[in-house]
Amino acid sequence: MKINTRELSTIVDKYHNEKSALIAVLQDVQEEYHWLPPEAIQFVSDKLNIPLIDVYGVATFYRAFSLTPRGEHIVTVCLGTACHVRGAPLVKDRLVNLLKIEPGCTTSDGKFTLESVNCLGACALAPIVVVDGNYHGQTTVKKVDQIIEKYKKKKTKKKTTRKRKK
Ligand code: FES
Repeated sequence: MKINTRELSTIVDKYHNEKSALIAVLQDVQEEYHWLPPEAIQFVSDKLNIPLIDVYGVATFYRAFSLTPRGEHIVTVCLGTACHVRGAPLVKDRLVNLLKIEPGCTTSDGKFTLESVNCLGACALAPIVVVDGNYHGQTTVKKVDQIIEKYKKKKTKKKTTRKRKK
């Protein structure tokens, strides 16, 4: 994958090349690419002078980081018991039909990644679909159509590169 080294440099420089800022740097890189491409990990390793194995150690330790390509929008459907008994399988099937991908996959245009989880800890709102961290409770097949339609038109906001105060 072609990475923009100037953009990556800006990210790392923002943290003054501090090794202790590795997690923050990786978060910003992931926000930029929606995942952590190997070339970007190598770049961060070189720039922060942290052994590659240690950067991978952090990247694989935290669930928030992805080492595989992810879409612009992350759609998570809960299939836990409370959601299941309130129609989550139908909601999931609708998402699969709309996005034409199975959970764990990303659409070919890179717009959506579909994931499933076993409980989001908000069972009272079952069935739940979360898109980019926004909870959509008491979801129905009809609501799913509206939600996806809305996100198809929406672009992910890119984080602005700000200088960190020292
Ligand atoms: S089972 Fe879906 S939020 Fe708990």
